[in-house]
Amino acid sequence: LVAVLAGINPAWEDKLLLMEGLQYEVLLKSGDAISASDFFGSHNDYLAFIPATEGNTEEGLLWVNHEYFNPLFVSGYTGKGERTKEQVDKEMYEVGGSIVRIRKDTSGKWNLVQNDPANRRITAKTKIPFHYPKPIAGANHAIGTLANCAGGVTPWGTVLTCEENYDNFYGERDWQTGGLAQASVYGWEHFYNYPQEHYGWVVEVNPATGDARKLVALGRCAHECATVQELPDGRVVVYTGDDANDECLYKFVSSKPGSLLEGTLYVANLEKGRWESLDIKKQKVLKKAFKSQEEVLIRLREASKLVGGSPLDRPEDIEIDPITGNVLIALTNNRPKGNHHGSILKLTEKDGRYDALEFSHDTFLAGGEATGFACPDNMAFDLAGNLWFTSDISGKSINKGPYTAFKNNGLFLVPRQGPQAGQVIQVASAPTDAELTGPYFSPDGKTLFLCVQHPGETSPSLAGLTSPLPGAAAADPG
Ligand code: FEO
Ligand code: CA
Ligand code: CA
Repeated sequence: LVAVLAGINPAWEDKLLLMEGLQYEVLLKSGDAISASDFFGSHNDYLAFIPATEGNTEEGLLWVNHEYFNPLFVSGYTGKGERTKEQVDKEMYEVGGSIVRIRKDTSGKWNLVQNDPANRRITAKTKIPFHYPKPIAGANHAIGTLANCAGGVTPWGTVLTCEENYDNFYGERDWQTGGLAQASVYGWEHFYNYPQEHYGWVVEVNPATGDARKLVALGRCAHECATVQELPDGRVVVYTGDDANDECLYKFVSSKPGSLLEGTLYVANLEKGRWESLDIKKQKVLKKAFKSQEEVLIRLREASKLVGGSPLDRPEDIEIDPITGNVLIALTNNRPKGNHHGSILKLTEKDGRYDALEFSHDTFLAGGEATGFACPDNMAFDLAGNLWFTSDISGKSINKGPYTAFKNNGLFLVPRQGPQAGQVIQVASAPTDAELTGPYFSPDGKTLFLCVQHPGETSPSLAGLTSPLPGAAAADPG
């Protein structure tokens, strides 16, 4: 970044608007065929590009999360009366993720490689084993993955996809009675009697084979993302946040190289600047409250409060700053506490060691009218270490109250060097009701893969769309 960037102003238009110098092409839309039997799902959030060979800038596999769906566009359920089983089955296909091979053509445009053997779907119907030596709620596998929000990639080329608002699908368990503590939004539990404990995990997917497993050792909560840092000795650290008001930040530190099973899960105590262990053998208070380590991991929110985990303002994405080594955490907002605009938190591990048990922290960037953004969500660093992040003002709140100045959601850039270092520059504006998700750079840094999630989400009916269906909205690339 040498030239001074003009950026764009907050915008209303029902379009994907870009700053001068950027252009977009639509690679895939919901409902597109990816093989003879499968199609691309709904509500894309995180995505990752896994190059076909190391550093390959022309071809690779794209993993895309399908977080949830709008019944209006998928099953036709209108919100009145009970869903039918047929409607639920359609909805179950929409979530999970897609794996597709993509390749650049001679003009530099990315295309789906039709019918490539790697192209496949993982859905709420896919059988997925637990990566754990003991059964979870009586079973060694779950049926399906859902609520797949953000994620991460491992040093060995697999993808981590995070089950966030899982309770919307089958509800959540009441631990005292064993019954349902709360009904779900989608009512799937009326048709499928799957244990609630089978959802809310980080799921590892091998994009080359489609093999998946649920990583129990990383705990169960509304995982937003899972960001992996490899240590010099091959062990790994995984940062993950629980995206709900007043929930916590976690890190898993493996005890063996490359293990996502053997190690210790910690929760952040910001007041003390300490990572607190969630190992039942090390914490008397956990031993008193829970029967086993599995129970600690399943009821992670309760356990983290008992050991002093700090309540945060909805931790969303986490990225490691390639320039400073700091851990950045998007805290999107906490409206009951009056925090409408959110911030990006900076965490510095002691002595720069990611397996440290102590850290310091500070605010990296605060949302608000002065900085020009609100509700930071997904982040990515480019090859020069510039920070790119998206905003997620909910469709219902856009252009209202404390969000009026920001207009539609956007994509923002924070240059790290030059005359604009540290400034927040808006580089894209999303269509009506949408948020931009997934930002992920190709290995040469020339392509930013980006998803447009939930355009038209406040539409009352198909006849009254606030934004055209995905695809129709994409007619005007500029
Ligand atoms: Fe699915 Fe917390 O965003
Ligand atoms: Ca998010
Ligand atoms: Ca979001």
